[in-house]
Amino acid sequence: MTKAGRPPMIGLMSSRRQFLGAIGMAPFAACSSLTPGSDRTAAFLQDAQGDGRSPQEVARDETFWREVQLAFNVDRSVVNLNNGGVSPSPRCVHEKFIEQLDFTNNAPPHNMWRILEPNREGVRQQLARAFGADTEEIAITRNASEGLMICQHGIDLQRGDEVLTTDQDYPRMIQAFQQRTRRQGVVLKQIQLPVPCEDDAEVVRRFAAGITDRTRMILVCHVINLTGQILPVKDVAALGRARGIPVVVDGAHALAHFRSGSTSCRWTTTAPRCTSGCSRRSAPDSCTCGATRSRGCGR
Ligand SMILES: Cc1ncc(COP(=O)(O)O)c(C=O)c1O
Repeated sequence: MTKAGRPPMIGLMSSRRQFLGAIGMAPFAACSSLTPGSDRTAAFLQDAQGDGRSPQEVARDETFWREVQLAFNVDRSVVNLNNGGVSPSPRCVHEKFIEQLDFTNNAPPHNMWRILEPNREGVRQQLARAFGADTEEIAITRNASEGLMICQHGIDLQRGDEVLTTDQDYPRMIQAFQQRTRRQGVVLKQIQLPVPCEDDAEVVRRFAAGITDRTRMILVCHVINLTGQILPVKDVAALGRARGIPVVVDGAHALAHFRSGSTSCRWTTTAPRCTSGCSRRSAPDSCTCGATRSRGCGR
């Protein structure tokens, strides 16, 4: 039995271990310092990371999924199929949020301005570690839409300039481009992606075919919200880089799905820079610092 009084989570296979390691950092990271319920989640995650079973075996283990269910404080009388746009927070995150709100409210000028706000820098550093990036490459925004729109609206464009994306990118991101179309006469081009889309090379070919002399920006989704399709963002970014076109990757669903230290997010960079520790301003895959980094999803 574990310290939490439950059977040990034996035998998750390594990809599952990596997955839990990755998600453990993000939503569950606060669990270890929290309430008894959070202790249970933290102990569960700890066990799961040492589990060597195959995903198929784990899929059949109702005890395992019961623990996952218990980590969320949701209405069991409703079947919620939307865990994307309006996902519930794990219980430990929710509890931490309330705890910090209470702390703020106790003495706002002191607790909020003097204690919590300066702590944001520590959060930024931890996020950078989770992404496998340099702290200076991380900006905390309120959500993925804001982060993406800073890029989409932040690049100077002239009437007739083209932005290239797909017919399956997130509607809000398409609308951001349509806003530029109406206001500035920017041309929005959307390549069609097949469903299912099983050939990465075909995706890259379609992006390549969509590029013209007027293409000034490419937006590509890492994981498409409609289908879960993973796109070859590294290759699309290489395409843009070779032509001097900034590539913005919508990684709204990417971080928690790929291994900690995934380099996936680095393909988004519009000013490529090696993040392997040497901080040279050259692309990670062409930097001469000699550092090799583990890859994320391999795409
Ligand atoms: C692919 C994709 N991009 C962007 C977003 C926007 O994310 P947020 O709700 O954090 O602004 C979503 C939200 O579901 C999404 O699925």
